[in-house]
Amino acid sequence: MYTILMLNQKGGVGKTTIADELSFALERRGKTVAFVTTDPQGGSVHEVCDDPDFAEECDFQVVDTAGVLVGGVNDWCRAANLILVPMLPSTRDMEPTLRTLDIVRESGTGAKAYVIVNNFYAYGTLDRQLVEYLEGEEVPIIAKIPRAVALSRAAAAGVSVAEYDPKSHVVAPIELLADSVLNEEEKNNG
Ligand SMILES: Nc1ncnc2c1ncn2[C@@H]1O[C@H](COP(=O)(O)OP(=O)(O)OP(=O)(O)O)[C@@H](O)[C@H]1O
Ligand SMILES: [Mg+2]
Repeated sequence: MYTILMLNQKGGVGKTTIADELSFALERRGKTVAFVTTDPQGGSVHEVCDDPDFAEECDFQVVDTAGVLVGGVNDWCRAANLILVPMLPSTRDMEPTLRTLDIVRESGTGAKAYVIVNNFYAYGTLDRQLVEYLEGEEVPIIAKIPRAVALSRAAAAGVSVAEYDPKSHVVAPIELLADSVLNEEEKNNG
C-alpha cells in the first residue's frame, strides 16, 4: 500500500476534488484504491473506506483531510509516502500553504511533499507570478490543474471528469498528475 496524503490548512483548495480525480485516474490504470478521509464533512464521490485491513491490501490509499488541521496530522504525515498540497493561485493561499509545508517538515516524515496549483489559469499574470515565486522558493510543483466547471458537474453526477466530459481540458492535466504519482511510487519501490 502506497499512501498519498492530501493536505492544506486552507479550506476549499480542491483537496477532495483532486483526491477523487486522482483515485479515479489510478483506478483507470488498473490500480486498487482505498479512499480514506479524516474530514467528517466528507463530500467525496468515492465511498469512504474505514477498514484499515482492506486499505492495506490496496495498491494505493488516498487520504483526504479537512481544511482545518485537527489532531493526528503528524501521524498521517509520517504514515504517508507522498504528500500533495493543493492551493489556489491567490496570495491569500500562500501563507497557509507555506505553513502546511512547515508542518510536513516538522512532522519528521520521510515522504516527499509537492504543491498542486489548482484553478490554474496559464494566461493569468498573478497565476504565473505565483508559480515563479514558488519555484524561486524551491517549492516543488507536481501539477497545475486548470479551472473547469466540468469537475464539479462530474462530482455532482458521481463520476470522474474523464467519464463525464472526456473532451474537457482538465482531463489531460489529471492524467499527467496520475502519471507523476505513479512515477513517485515506482521510485519508492525501486
Ligand atoms: N480546478 C477546479 N475548477 C473548478 N472548480 C473546482 C476546481 N477544484 C475545485 N473546484 C470546486 O471548488 C470547490 C472546493 O473544492 P473541494 O471541496 O475539492 O476543496 P477542499 O479543499 O476539499 O475543501 P474543504 O477544505 O472544505 O474540504 C468545490 O465546489 C469544487 O467543485
Ligand atoms: Mg474537502
